[in-house]
Amino acid sequence: MVRYIVEKILDNLYLLRVNDRVKFFEALWDIPEGITYNAYLLISKDGVVLFDGWKDEYAEDLLDAIRTISDPNDIKYIVVHHVEQDHSGSIQRVLEANSGIAEVLCHPLAVKMLQSLYTASFKFKIVKDGEEFSLGDRTLKFIYTPWLHWPETIVSYIVEDGVLLSCDAFGGFSIPSTVFDDEEDITNYLKYVRKYIVNVIGYYSDYILKALDKIRGIGVSPKIITPAHGIIFRKNPEIIVDYYERVARGLSERGKITVIYNSMYGSVEKAIHHAIGELEKRGFKPVTFKFTDSERPAIGDILSEIIDSEALVIGVSVYENDLFPYVSYLLELMARKIRVGKPILLISSYGWSKVASSKVSDKLARTYFKIVESIEFQGQPDMEDLEKISEGVIRLLEAINQG
Ligand SMILES: Cc1cc2nc3c(=O)[nH]c(=O)nc-3n(C[C@H](O)[C@H](O)[C@H](O)COP(=O)(O)O)c2cc1C
Ligand SMILES: [Fe+2]
Ligand SMILES: [Fe+2]
Repeated sequence: MVRYIVEKILDNLYLLRVNDRVKFFEALWDIPEGITYNAYLLISKDGVVLFDGWKDEYAEDLLDAIRTISDPNDIKYIVVHHVEQDHSGSIQRVLEANSGIAEVLCHPLAVKMLQSLYTASFKFKIVKDGEEFSLGDRTLKFIYTPWLHWPETIVSYIVEDGVLLSCDAFGGFSIPSTVFDDEEDITNYLKYVRKYIVNVIGYYSDYILKALDKIRGIGVSPKIITPAHGIIFRKNPEIIVDYYERVARGLSERGKITVIYNSMYGSVEKAIHHAIGELEKRGFKPVTFKFTDSERPAIGDILSEIIDSEALVIGVSVYENDLFPYVSYLLELMARKIRVGKPILLISSYGWSKVASSKVSDKLARTYFKIVESIEFQGQPDMEDLEKISEGVIRLLEAINQG
């Protein structure tokens, strides 16, 4: 079965894409939607340039894909935008097939990182921030974009064609059925972009904004954006730039409330159903995730919904004098990956001692999240507890309005 796609982007520029239907990304994120690794091949007057690569298990496929366009021995330069192995994993095999001719163009920090991963005897050529590198008929401009997604990350801009090879930036999860933005339902794709941003680079959200400022500041306004994951934007590159900015800023979708809870035997669930009823009475249709005997949502999906929510309702039961483990884990990742604040209504049920309010506050201590109301009750919620929840929902909605 052919897992890869070779597609001409311009007369001299090709996409080499492999579709990876892997279960988890970085051994962490559930991605039933899959992921693509996009490498690019530029045929210039001064020789063939390979930008990035694929995961090591697809190295032979990458060579096959390259051979449909060029002899691997003709690759004169390999640009390593980012050392993470989803892109660099195939470099050893490519250099072997290339008889070690190619020079590796990269950030200074990438040198030791590559040497620590591969045994190839690399011929490095360090590129400088803002450097222009002539390929005869084409010029590559290299721009440092630290922390997108590692410290050594750079992007390249093909000056004459207005193509921004952006590596992880502007990428997304999923295996889009087509290659370009003019052929795909972008609205549907953007939810995988949001998930990718929050899961993979959420911790470095500020650097997305810094990179956008930097790229705009040096007058680069790409006509085509070719990321290392997902769709290529050529019809409307502003869509992906604006969306990245939106997600990095944590902007909310009006009226979006996300409810997340666990319930072992139904006590928390009863209280949460009441909160949802109160929200629905006021016209809200919350996005709901629950950890129960029958459901276990993916943490990466929840984080992705949180980033553009206006507010959250979190329901948690007390478990071994602490928070129910999956909710505890979620809070830990919220603290790392979501760098903006959202108001929270906290609901908790305990058996003999209430701990949720202080435990959740601790977990979210160094974040911008704000617990507007915390309602804790023993066992099943009684009428008084439900009344408090109704009031809590009103407080939550007020917090949204107060921004
Ligand atoms: C495995 C397990 C561990 C628990 N540990 C505690 C605990 O340490 N402290 C406590 O007050 N209640 C504890 N409880 C009681 C639950 O917090 C309580 O029954 C709560 O109402 C559960 O709500 P739920 O059925 O919606 O999950 C525990 C319950 C279970 C099943
Ligand atoms: Fe990465
Ligand atoms: Fe990547």
